[in-house]
Amino acid sequence: MTAGESRTFFGARAAGWEEKFPDDGPRFERAVAELDVQPGDAVLDAACGTGRALPVLRDATGPAGALVGLDLTPEMLGEARRRGRDRLAGLVQADVTALPFPPATFDVVFASGLVSHLPDPAAGLQELARVARAGARLGLFHPVGRAALARRHGRELSPDDVRAEPRIRALLAAAGWTCTGVDDAEDRWLVRAVRP
Ligand SMILES: C[S@@+](CC[C@H](N)C(=O)[O-])C[C@H]1O[C@@H](n2cnc3c(N)ncnc32)[C@H](O)[C@@H]1O
Repeated sequence: MTAGESRTFFGARAAGWEEKFPDDGPRFERAVAELDVQPGDAVLDAACGTGRALPVLRDATGPAGALVGLDLTPEMLGEARRRGRDRLAGLVQADVTALPFPPATFDVVFASGLVSHLPDPAAGLQELARVARAGARLGLFHPVGRAALARRHGRELSPDDVRAEPRIRALLAAAGWTCTGVDDAEDRWLVRAVRP
């Protein structure tokens, strides 16, 4: 999807987005716990949508942390505000391929449901690497595994899928990340990486 198509697609789905996935809360909690967010960390939730992950991320950073939720789609951010998530994090409308932050800003970057929507995932991962500090952790997440998602959409699992393990590992390496784990389970997809 182009950025414009993404905005239209998700703009139409912002209202009612969270009600569609009522069981995802514990999956976000588990994923964030595995990213080793420390109190006081600077954290970017890239493509935060309605900000489902922001309460969990704020719990992890504590009040001393800096937390930013960023998304392309104004309706998603509007829904995040309606839910009071602007009291937990700064909300920024921007494209992950052109982030409005200086290099080496964040200790942790979390991105749920992002990579498969990027027309150029390599460019997105490179830009996330640019704003990550040395030693920063990256979590690419989806609250459902690849096989389960393919079944839900009535399609075959494809090796060309950007989330297939060999592809995402290669993309991360080329973008300046060291992949430290891929968990493609039934109930989640979590890829962890660090910025050397
Ligand atoms: C599947 S939703 C996931 C939202 C949220 N992270 C969640 O898990 O509920 C994908 C989100 O990515 C955003 N998005 C897509 N392309 C983007 C881009 N280039 N830059 C920033 N956000 C983008 C969409 O606006 C949408 O909110």
